[in-house]
Amino acid sequence: MVKIYYSKTKEEAGLKAAKSVAATIDAKPTALLGLATGSSPIPMYTELAKMYNEGKLSFKDCVSVNLDEYVGLSPDHDQSYAYFMNDNLFSKIDIDIAKTNLPSGIAPDPVAECERYNALLNTLGPQDVQILGIGHNGHIGFNEPSDRFPQKTELVYLTESTVKANARFFASEKDVPTSALSMGIGQILRAKKIILLANGEAKAEILDKALFGDVTPRVPASILQFADCVEVYADEEALSVIIAKHGENAVIR
Ligand code: GLP
Repeated sequence: MVKIYYSKTKEEAGLKAAKSVAATIDAKPTALLGLATGSSPIPMYTELAKMYNEGKLSFKDCVSVNLDEYVGLSPDHDQSYAYFMNDNLFSKIDIDIAKTNLPSGIAPDPVAECERYNALLNTLGPQDVQILGIGHNGHIGFNEPSDRFPQKTELVYLTESTVKANARFFASEKDVPTSALSMGIGQILRAKKIILLANGEAKAEILDKALFGDVTPRVPASILQFADCVEVYADEEALSVIIAKHGENAVIR
């Protein structure tokens, strides 16, 4: 079941999402956190760091797994997802860095690295909470539109539109990696709770398509309609199409 929570601003959406993550950790201090990168989760990470600073939340017994990593970028590259996680969250909270996990973008054999990550995910068990953003084409993690829903972590090739969308973070478009290792849709769906974050007008159409359109691997996020417990935290702009098409009752205020 998908619950869509309305927020006026992305900061408000981030705060509500952070409270949901905190509730998971309060109930289970050893929680397995499935984490995501991109601009969408940043306000939530800011709130989580604030809760930690105020002594309201500790991550010291949590374990984390991230969704994805670019092939070819080392953790010290400022656009790698390992760098992003350290910068936006891990360095600001008390999580044990040894308990944080991402696929490695510089493993000599990417396919063997996927196998390592799949084995790790099996050992750690289902995520207690999984954070997601959504790409402009409906991707989650780096599961791009295709004719199937990948079950496990795979080496994936990024679509032209994703490379273009992510070029803003690199010196030029040719610097954007064209492949990545991404957790599979099957591994995302087994999470006990999924939190999807979306901000801004540019996400309004795809959010409607994902949450109210056909469930199809052409819109990977649409599979969330079949998940047990999905919480969407989005700002007014990202919800504009949903509210216009499906009315006020489509969202929880
Ligand atoms: C990237 C990431 C996704 C993320 C998406 C949206 O390609 N691999 O995990 O959700 O882009 O990013 P943003 O939140 O910056 O719009």
